[in-house]
Amino acid sequence: MRKYITLVLLLNIALLSAAWISASAPLTEGTRGAPGVGDPYFPELGNGGYDAQHFRIGLTVDLNERHLAGTVTMQAIATQDLSQFNLDFLGFSIEQLTVNGVPATYSRAGREFIITPAVLLAKDSPFEVLVRYQGTPGQYDGLSSQPFSGGWQHYPGGVYVASQPDGASLWYPTNDHPQDKATYSFAISVDAPYIVATNGQLQRVEDDGAGRRTFYWETRDPTASYLVTVNIAQFSRQEQEGEVVLIRNYFPADKQAQAEAVFAETDAMLGFFTGIFGDYPFEVYGAVVADKSLPFALETQTLSLFGTNVLNDSLQAQIVIAHELAHQWFGNSVSVHTWRDIWLNEGFATYASALWVEHRYGRARFMTLMQDWYRLISNPAFILTAPPAGDPSAARMFHPVVYYRGAWTLHALRQKVGDETFFNILKIYYQRYQYGNAQIADFVTVAEAVSGQSLQDFFTGWLYQQALPEP
Ligand code: TRP
Ligand code: ZN
Repeated sequence: MRKYITLVLLLNIALLSAAWISASAPLTEGTRGAPGVGDPYFPELGNGGYDAQHFRIGLTVDLNERHLAGTVTMQAIATQDLSQFNLDFLGFSIEQLTVNGVPATYSRAGREFIITPAVLLAKDSPFEVLVRYQGTPGQYDGLSSQPFSGGWQHYPGGVYVASQPDGASLWYPTNDHPQDKATYSFAISVDAPYIVATNGQLQRVEDDGAGRRTFYWETRDPTASYLVTVNIAQFSRQEQEGEVVLIRNYFPADKQAQAEAVFAETDAMLGFFTGIFGDYPFEVYGAVVADKSLPFALETQTLSLFGTNVLNDSLQAQIVIAHELAHQWFGNSVSVHTWRDIWLNEGFATYASALWVEHRYGRARFMTLMQDWYRLISNPAFILTAPPAGDPSAARMFHPVVYYRGAWTLHALRQKVGDETFFNILKIYYQRYQYGNAQIADFVTVAEAVSGQSLQDFFTGWLYQQALPEP
């Protein structure tokens, strides 16, 4: 009996202590986070095992030396018991690395920055990674897959950042895939008289009294890594309380008058797109113009990036301005699920710019524009050499077929289902996927549901087969 009682007591103590251990003792097992999110075009982009919530980007920039000293903090939530996880980051020397304030070890393999925390991270628990680094960016141009996505770029008189699809990890450690959007705060220090413009809103400027100023910026809404931008130059800021949202532009100080004229219709474009797509998704909008001619523009979130070549009095300039604005809905708010879905960005922004032409300049100018694009996409040599707009491959993601046959796909859909149904499809698709991610099949599903028509063959013909369908 006595023996028996002792046994029960011992058992109870064992059970109690087991419960206590599982409630608060450190994990003893975890697995590695995946090195990618499974993007068919860019298997190395993004990482598994956690969900990034917020990045604090602290940078001290030496424009003369083209040197960066960074302290980047990522706040994330573990999505599994984690023994190890990756960030995407290439180049620079790592000066310090901590996870939850405790020094962590790492190794590097190409773009993968492989971090082993001292203590395992439990599923669903928040954690914070701090990386202090320094070096000269831009030494990895060409390692990025696209001609214009070098990330951090110096030019005489300033810096711009353009990273689509894979340039973000060339200048800060990140989870470099649009499936994991996060909010950002920035503290960027430069010598006077330079000014810093990034995504979101300027909170304050601190002057150290010795010629160096720190610009504090903050985004309200989650932003994909490729849409993060930092611009440094002698800008003048122009601000306008628009009908839809606050508009703040950053123009080269000596080109301000010309730039104000060229961007004068931004507020009207915002009103038009809000009417046909739905509410503008973000807290603020504007343009930044780098004082350099650029062979592209980019829809960096809340602050689209342009080069000086846009500063001319032409319809083409207005089309580019409308295109980057339309991406704030299609691309930035509704983001691609994987980069194979790039038609959902470029086809939509291109057709949206034509819709602005139709609204602002009339049906005849719209038809001329659509016919110009049709001439391009119906050229037999073009048809033979172009990839499918719905799956253009990583190397040809930004092929004109994605833009112009992509825009014609939407125009053909509009002709097939009629204006009222077509614009309902756009609105409902946007409403369903805003602040999230979509695949091409998701759009097809919405189009079929709203129109009540079977559209599989229609989209297969336009997006996946070589022959150009009759519009
Ligand atoms: N998305 C840009 C556009 O609006 C074009 C683009 C593709 C780009 N890759 C880029 C721009 C890289 C800057 C950097 O059409
Ligand atoms: Zn575009």
